[in-house]
Amino acid sequence: MIFSGKGPMIGDADMTDDADFRRRLDEAASATEATLAALLGAEPLAGEIARPARLLEAMRYVALGGGKRLRPFLALESARLFGVEGEGARRAAAAIEMIHCYSLAHDDLPAMDDDDLRRGRPTAHKAFDEATAILAGDGLLTYAFDVLADPATHADAQIRARLVLALARAAGLGGMVGGQALDLEAETATTPLSQAETLRLQAMKTGALLRVCVDFGAVLGGASAPVAAALGRYGDALGAAFQIADDILDAEGDEAALGKRAGKDAERNKATLIGLLGLDRARERRDALVEAAIAALAETGLGEATGVLAEAARFVALRSN
Ligand code: IPE
Ligand code: IPE
Ligand code: MG
Ligand code: MG
Ligand code: MG
Repeated sequence: MIFSGKGPMIGDADMTDDADFRRRLDEAASATEATLAALLGAEPLAGEIARPARLLEAMRYVALGGGKRLRPFLALESARLFGVEGEGARRAAAAIEMIHCYSLAHDDLPAMDDDDLRRGRPTAHKAFDEATAILAGDGLLTYAFDVLADPATHADAQIRARLVLALARAAGLGGMVGGQALDLEAETATTPLSQAETLRLQAMKTGALLRVCVDFGAVLGGASAPVAAALGRYGDALGAAFQIADDILDAEGDEAALGKRAGKDAERNKATLIGLLGLDRARERRDALVEAAIAALAETGLGEATGVLAEAARFVALRSN
């Protein structure tokens, strides 16, 4: 599909029909599902004492069976740009997805967004109970770093340490967790957040984890500093577009397609660009970010190989869930 800028295709439901992209997204999803399922088996690993059945079941519930698996796709495709494929890349991609899935289970808790539907099923605290949903998230968070630190992910300990550090920085205080804190604080702020504050909040709560996917590809692939930086600019722009698209989908309200409740952001007074700019300008912003992401890909100098990542940026804007 040719990217249509601000033309009529943007905003239409699910217009990303590029067959190669669809196939690779499906492949990434299947590979990630299989990797996560294997990691979340009943047998304890060396050094573990036992795997409590109900907690394991909840971790499997949170991590398996649904989701677009966009983050693993981005990590796998970024690594593939440098000729890196295989089990190590799949484990690294699965580690990021573990963090993402944990963040969703916690995001849905009554103390946070208080949602009852996720990926078309009851949220973890509804399917189990609150304590189990919290612990399932904790278990996945910890396991992500176990996976990265394991030599099965990469033979070189320095590469493993770089992956651990990058993911910790993206997921923690100055990244996703920090962004979630700002998101919740903003709900009750006496003065609404400015545009710059809202963009920073979103870069933290969502952008950081999407950006680190392409950073993983660069680390695994041994990218040069300028190529890694250009790829990082792609990740940042895609991440920003992604959350604006998420907010637009929430406002548009197709719960059946989304597999999660809609209309919650306005109800909970969330800081979004839609609240600040309105839907039309938020869409324009999203589309401009997609174009910026694609422009950054061109700056990598990696040529046609980046086509599937360009399609991913379009998908982020055009998706229906
Ligand atoms: C939803 O992420 C939560 C946000 C970060 C906005 P996704 O839209 O990637 O959710 P899944 O993984 O496909 O369910
Ligand atoms: C969630 O943002 C971001 C994280 C889980 C870190 P939202 O709260 O907007 O995500 P949804 O809409 O519930 O998926
Ligand atoms: Mg939230
Ligand atoms: Mg939420
Ligand atoms: Mg949302």
